[in-house]
Amino acid sequence: MNWNKQNPYLAKITSKKLLSGKQSNKEVFHYEISLGDSGIIYQPGDSLGIFPVNNNTLVRAIVNRLQINPSYIPEGYDLNIYELLEKKFEILTPTNRLIKFVNDNINHKELNYSLDTKNINILMDFKYGKDVLDFMNLDESLKFDILHFLSLLKPLQHRAYSIASSNLIFKNSVHLTVSTQRWQRKKRDYGGVCSTFLSDSCELGDKIKIFLIPNKLFKLPDDQNKPIIMIGPGTGVAPFLSFIQERKYLKSNGKNWLFFGAQTKKNDFIYKDLISNFVEEKILNNLDTAFSRDQNKKIYVQDKIYERSYEFFKWLENDAIIYVCGDAQKMAKDVEVSILNIIAKELKCDDKKAMEYLKMLKKEKRYLLDVY
Ligand SMILES: Cc1cc2nc3c(=O)[nH]c(=O)nc-3n(C[C@H](O)[C@H](O)[C@H](O)COP(=O)(O)OP(=O)(O)OC[C@H]3O[C@@H](n4cnc5c(N)ncnc54)[C@H](O)[C@@H]3O)c2cc1C
Ligand SMILES: NC(=O)c1ccc[n+]([C@@H]2O[C@H](COP(=O)([O-])OP(=O)(O)OC[C@H]3O[C@@H](n4cnc5c(N)ncnc54)[C@H](OP(=O)(O)O)[C@@H]3O)[C@@H](O)[C@H]2O)c1
Repeated sequence: MNWNKQNPYLAKITSKKLLSGKQSNKEVFHYEISLGDSGIIYQPGDSLGIFPVNNNTLVRAIVNRLQINPSYIPEGYDLNIYELLEKKFEILTPTNRLIKFVNDNINHKELNYSLDTKNINILMDFKYGKDVLDFMNLDESLKFDILHFLSLLKPLQHRAYSIASSNLIFKNSVHLTVSTQRWQRKKRDYGGVCSTFLSDSCELGDKIKIFLIPNKLFKLPDDQNKPIIMIGPGTGVAPFLSFIQERKYLKSNGKNWLFFGAQTKKNDFIYKDLISNFVEEKILNNLDTAFSRDQNKKIYVQDKIYERSYEFFKWLENDAIIYVCGDAQKMAKDVEVSILNIIAKELKCDDKKAMEYLKMLKKEKRYLLDVY
């Protein structure tokens, strides 16, 4: 059977463990999902697509706001409004269409100004942390026609998660590392749709809709002797567990170097035992960690990379591949700056030459990113 986005496989959750410590600012879970009789085969670097179900409290609140009976079936639909909002539509992040509709139909100085001004940052600030219900409630007298309201929403999307296991070792399961997104605003609790679906609504034995998202580029080299450098702070470490397990299973000779970063060693060093074992078994030749909040001055992975300039560049000259996974907004950009600085320092060249070297790495597919 060909399982895909249109035809997801119903897979059982077989393990769920909290990785982050009690005093962590984060909530990171390790999930194991059985591939059952799906026949799904994955490779290191691939991701898993998961279709979430929306939070019941939020669904109820929106149904109430619409002043409609939850069992009402809107014209042209097979499901009632409750089921539609639960399973078919994105009801957390508002679309631009919804924001525009609200703006066109109410008098709200701040919203009107945010949309009228050409400065996109003002609208971003206004939207920050607010969900669909917040926009509906900017003016409680605003009425919504049900069919029109549904047309202002997007279809509920799957979320992607990097696979954190090797299929060679875990023949019939897939492991994930998921950071639950939670925030508060004006005494209301909010949560990312899929990460809280997994953490709050899914228990062992529950079945979820999944499909494989292959990644042709973020791959281990065929050449088992090639050195690899993996840079993965936070949940960015996930695919590298798969990479290291795979290389261990294949008894690859290529050297492996991991840069991991987290807020504190005590509460956020996820997979500490597993990673320490890799070091002891000498499958992980180098491990550098950056715990940003264990001292007054923040230390990030890029600082650790720069500290190791000489050896880092030596690995590059020995044909190493660099992999970066995790936060796209800041981390990946800052890591790139650090790598450029290392190249300039070690080659004793100017920024232009360093950039050419990086371009060469990219062209040779030796600088690979999986950032989100
Ligand atoms: C290829 C790929 C691989 C990925 N791998 C992983 C992985 O291994 N592990 C992992 O955890 N994630 C991973 N992600 C991210 C993952 O797909 C989801 O984006 C993530 O879990 C959030 O989804 P969600 O449904 O929980 O939140 P959504 O419902 O999508 O909401 C996210 C939105 O919530 C808002 N938000 C979040 N936090 C706050 C806050 N503190 N304050 C205000 N607003 C906030 C923001 O607007 C944000 O855009 C990956 C993404 C990609 C594309
Ligand atoms: N797009 C999405 O849907 C999505 C999903 C999950 C995560 N994310 C984002 O991805 C990022 C990583 O999330 P996470 O929970 O896996 O990791 P995390 O635990 O938030 O961060 C891991 C480490 O990276 C550090 N860090 C912060 N800024 C950095 C930078 N510019 N360069 C290098 N390191 C930096 C953090 O330090 P400090 O915290 O001490 O500064 C921490 O020590 C977060 O910013 C999160 O918002 C996005």
